[in-house]
Amino acid sequence: MKALEGVRILDFTHVQSGPTCTQLLAWFGADCIKVERPGVGDATRGQLRDIPDVDSLYFTMLNHNKRSITLNTKNETGKSVLERLVKTCDVLVENFAPGALDRMGFGWERIQELNPRMIMASVKGFGPGPYEDCKVYENVAQCTGGAASTTGFLDGPPTVTGAQVGDSGTGLHLALGIVTALYHREKTGRGQRVLAAMQDGVLNLCRVKLRDQQRLERGPLTEYSQYGLGVPFSDATPRAGNDSGGGQPGWILKCKGWETDPNAYVYFITQAAVWQRICDIIGKPEWKEDPGYAKPEARLDKLNHIFETIEGWTRTKTKFEVMDICNPMDIPCGPILSMKELAEEPSLRETGTVVEVDHPARGKYLTVGCPIKLSESPAEVTRSPLLGEHTTEILSEVLGYSAAEVDDIRASGALGKP
Ligand code: COA
Repeated sequence: MKALEGVRILDFTHVQSGPTCTQLLAWFGADCIKVERPGVGDATRGQLRDIPDVDSLYFTMLNHNKRSITLNTKNETGKSVLERLVKTCDVLVENFAPGALDRMGFGWERIQELNPRMIMASVKGFGPGPYEDCKVYENVAQCTGGAASTTGFLDGPPTVTGAQVGDSGTGLHLALGIVTALYHREKTGRGQRVLAAMQDGVLNLCRVKLRDQQRLERGPLTEYSQYGLGVPFSDATPRAGNDSGGGQPGWILKCKGWETDPNAYVYFITQAAVWQRICDIIGKPEWKEDPGYAKPEARLDKLNHIFETIEGWTRTKTKFEVMDICNPMDIPCGPILSMKELAEEPSLRETGTVVEVDHPARGKYLTVGCPIKLSESPAEVTRSPLLGEHTTEILSEVLGYSAAEVDDIRASGALGKP
């Protein structure tokens, strides 16, 4: 039995943030019914297509383990089917633009009337406030949540990161909100609203940068390499390049082959506890006793020189050789792994973090499996549904419509062109 078996999700999500959330719930065993617009479906089905007329990887990689029903929820018959779905499901998850559900006639009050146990979970760009009506995409959230202003190099512009902290990050926050509300419902018998705003989710992930903002008011941030370079701080947390965010200085260093391989780099941390070992492997044993280098505080104004010296050593090794030498000595470091290397890494295949899935239209493709492993509820990744693949099955088996009623619903146009 899966952890969330018996939980039924009315999945009204699209694009990335909402689908990330419901995919996680589906992996934990929830029955996830994705409601899509007839003929079109989730817009991502057709975006960034690599094979003509086949659901894109954007869609397939975010919608595993779900069932799909097409339903025009602006059609009167479609609305009555949606009402039945609301009465039957435990959780409604949506990430429409602000106000879209109200315009459809399914605002929170109506949902509560139909099913007081319903948990209604939403991703929005912003929480209540001046921007609450705005439509928001990933990079907008990274910019408005503090990630962009603190990412990049000091002398360069604000930079967005490849990690989808706005979309997938907020989907993850929402999933936690939903399981928490389900737990609460066990005690109260009632549903509730769950809101995860993308700005809030990104800011939550940038918590340490708000920490630094307040430290800055008391003096310079001595662990930032800007300090060692003598560059004055402004009044806001600066971009810190590849500086380590913690109290232990770190940097990305070139390794053997960097001239031709854009990922021949290693992240290297000069952790205080292993400083003596670092001095030995880079051929600077004299730094162990030198008062200018022996203690972490003494090193702060020389970090650039120190990392340049360490790089002189890492450039003679591949990133994997650096890892092999440093790991047994507890010197924290990590090779910069490309997507190609991650896709081919056998250990990630073995744990189910990278999974090969077979799809009837596209054939085999790789996806990221469930990153959270439950020993009693392992996730098995099954392919994403074709548009409307389960429409009849959901109408009859989940909602209890008779065959004649299904025919009537179809004739009304609620499922698409009759
Ligand atoms: N039947 C009939 N109509 C449907 C439908 C269905 N099954 N499913 C959706 N629709 C309608 C909606 O009701 C809405 O109609 P309305 O504008 O007349 O009210 C319309 O489709 C479009 O929905 P919307 O959410 O506005 O889509 P969009 O493509 O214009 O905007 C986003 C996309 C992502 C910008 C927007 O949904 C948004 O800001 N979402 C919240 C933040 C978010 O999740 N952003 C990240 C996405 S990864």
